[in-house]
Amino acid sequence: MSNEVEQKKNIKTINDLPGISQTVINKLIEAGYSSLETLAVASPQDLSVAAGIPLSTAQKIIKEARDALDIRFKTALEVKKERMNVKKISTGSQALDGLLAGGIETRTMTEFFGEFGSGKTQLCHQLSVNVQLPPEKGGLSGKAVYIDTEGTFRWERIENMAKALGLDIDNVMNNIYYIRAINTDHQIAIVDDLQELVSKDPSIKLIVVDSVTSHFRAEYPGRENLAVRQQKLNKHLHQLTRLAEVYDIAVIITNQVMARPDMFYGDPTVAVGGHTLYHVPGIRIQLKKSRGNRRIARVVDAPHLPEGEVVFALTEEGIRDAEE
Ligand code: GTP
Ligand code: MG
Repeated sequence: MSNEVEQKKNIKTINDLPGISQTVINKLIEAGYSSLETLAVASPQDLSVAAGIPLSTAQKIIKEARDALDIRFKTALEVKKERMNVKKISTGSQALDGLLAGGIETRTMTEFFGEFGSGKTQLCHQLSVNVQLPPEKGGLSGKAVYIDTEGTFRWERIENMAKALGLDIDNVMNNIYYIRAINTDHQIAIVDDLQELVSKDPSIKLIVVDSVTSHFRAEYPGRENLAVRQQKLNKHLHQLTRLAEVYDIAVIITNQVMARPDMFYGDPTVAVGGHTLYHVPGIRIQLKKSRGNRRIARVVDAPHLPEGEVVFALTEEGIRDAEE
C-alpha cells in the first residue's frame, strides 16, 4: 500500500483531518458537520457560511473528507479487486454457507431477522466461535466483539460450541470481547468507541450486535416516535457499516420481527410497528422456525446472491446441517 493510501486510511473521524485546527473542527461540529460523511456531501458555500470559515478552507475540508471516504470514480477492475478481498466466515452449516456463497462476509453488515427462537442469537454465538477457526476450516483466525443488548449471551454455549470443534475453550473465550449495552445511548457510545479498539487490534474480524433494535424499540415506542427512532438507528447502522468497510470486518446485527400469521399477501418481511432496516446496505437473512430444531433461512434482496432458502439445525454442538 502506498504511503498516501495508508495515510488516508488513518483518517477515520473529522478529528483526523490533516491541517485543520481544533478551533475549526469545533466550529464544524457546532454547525452540525460532525462526521466525514456529512462533510463529504456538503457544498463549500453552505459549509463556509454555517461554520463561519473561509470558502477555501471549506473546499479543502470537503476534498479531504471525500478522499478519506474514498469517494471517487473507480474502474470496474478496482471494484472487482475490492470484492475479491471480501472474506467469509462459515456458519457451521454447509447448506447455509451455500446460500451465502461461502458464509458471512467481511466488509458487509449482515442482518438476521426473524421471530423469537428462530436462531438469531445462536448464530451470533456460533459465528463468534467460527471466526476464530483457521481459514481452511472456514474462519479468519480472528477475534469477535459481542455487543449484547438483551442479556442473552451465554458463555456456556460458547464453551459447548468450542468443544464440539475441538478448540481450546479458554482460548476461544479469551478471543471474544463481550459488553452489555444498557440503553440506546450506551449502545451508540460503544460503537463510537469501537473505532479505537478495532484499530488497535486488527485481529478483530467480527462485530455482533444482538439485538440492534430492542433498545430503540423500547425507548421510542409508537408511531409518534418513529421518525426520531429511525433517524437515530440509521446513523448507528451507518457507523457499523463503516467499521465493516474500513477495517474489513464482518458485522452481524439481529432484529426480532414478529411472525404475522394473518399475512398471506404482500411482503411478510415488513416488520410490525414500521421499523425497518431496508435503507441500509448489507445482506438481510430471514430466519423462520420449522419442525423441531430445524430452521429455515432465506436471503432477502441481496443483489449478488441468488434467491432461495435452506434448512439448517440448532443442535447441542451449535449450528449444523439438518439431518435428512
Ligand atoms: P429472540 O432473541 O427471542 O428473538 O430469539 P432468537 O432468534 O435469538 O433465538 P435463539 O437463537 O435464542 O434460539 C433459541 C433456540 O435455540 C431454542 O429454542 C433452542 O432450540 C436452541 N438452543 C438454545 N440454546 C440451546 C442449547 O443449549 N442447546 C440446544 N440443543 N439448543 C439450544
Ligand atoms: Mg436472541
